[in-house]
Amino acid sequence: MRVLVTGGAGFIGANFVHHTHLHRPDVQVTVLDKLTYAANPASLQGTGAQLVHGDIADAQLVDRLVADSDLVVHFAAESHNDNSLRDPSPFVQTNLVGTFTILEAVRTHGVRLHHISTDEVYGDLELDDPAKFTPDTPYNPSSPYSSTKAGSDLLVRAWVRSFGIVATISNCSNNYGPYQHIEKFIPRQITNVLSDLKPKLYGAGENVRDWIHVEDHNAAVWTIIDRGRSGETYLIGADGERNNKDVLELILELMGKPTDAYEHVTDRAGHDLRYAIDAGKLRDELGWAPRYPDLRAGLEQTVAWYTAHRDWWQATKAATEARYAEVGQ
Ligand code: NAD
Ligand code: TYD
Repeated sequence: MRVLVTGGAGFIGANFVHHTHLHRPDVQVTVLDKLTYAANPASLQGTGAQLVHGDIADAQLVDRLVADSDLVVHFAAESHNDNSLRDPSPFVQTNLVGTFTILEAVRTHGVRLHHISTDEVYGDLELDDPAKFTPDTPYNPSSPYSSTKAGSDLLVRAWVRSFGIVATISNCSNNYGPYQHIEKFIPRQITNVLSDLKPKLYGAGENVRDWIHVEDHNAAVWTIIDRGRSGETYLIGADGERNNKDVLELILELMGKPTDAYEHVTDRAGHDLRYAIDAGKLRDELGWAPRYPDLRAGLEQTVAWYTAHRDWWQATKAATEARYAEVGQ
């Protein structure tokens, strides 16, 4: 089986390529990646994947690569909410125009697509609301990031219905684990501690995220590829709801620091309060279950990874923090 993985030099995509290398030896992987600031080709070392440096919005290139594939797994995106508030333009270009370009190529060549998306398309929930997101929750995105992801999901649905392409969609909650860019919450705080900088909590830290280990996300993606029905949307989550303050205090504890050794910084504009996934459809219909639901154990492993892989992140730390400092974060 020949699989084209877009965005495979980014966080979840690189972990997907490693997972595939380990568990699916018959699969031949080609990665298409623009190698933006978020990518690190070193993340693919030891996977045997072929890396093609290019843009998912380049129709000629995408057409050629899709023609040579049996399956496209589409991770490529601009992925950070804070960046989308500063400059939405690459989000519209990559998440919408890029996904459109992939859709036209899979339509032309009759190739199966799995589209990777986020639970943020559903907007947010109140802190005291017992509800969780389900596949029937109406789309209500808040930021340029989540709205362009929502738009990309709707394009995929329309191409299934109007043109009969074979495609599935998954919307996952917040991932953590190795190879995540240090602009994101968990690795930013771990690398702050490792760099003798104070961790930074937005606002009061009451916002809740539903954390899942990236390995569980990618195992779920393969379950959907194997057994999912075309046109269906599957929500991926591992019942990992925690507020940001608790997660930060846990990181500090695991790193041997006082649990109040952080500072509060300017809150994010339009900051979503809470995300929570009901993954019942994936569990009941496809038989998936998370293997790493213990956040404490997963964070311990993630702290150990960033501690042992300074060479992977050190060179980007100063510039990442300088970008945040400009906006008081
Ligand atoms: P990331 O930012 O770490 O990686 C994105 C990758 O896409 C990078 O390697 C980048 O170079 C590449 N890319 C960006 N624009 C491109 C373009 N025009 N052409 C080709 N490649 C391009 O992101 P991530 O956290 O790994 O997220 C991957 C996917 O998973 C995204 O679609 C995101 O919306 C989705 N997702 C992420 C999370 C999360 O917690 N990180 C949760 C749910 C869903
Ligand atoms: P993030 O990793 O950016 O993911 P998302 O915006 O997709 O949820 O942020 C996770 C949560 O952590 C979010 O509520 C914002 C908060 N946050 C901080 O408190 N401090 C930080 O330095 C960052 C980057 C995020």
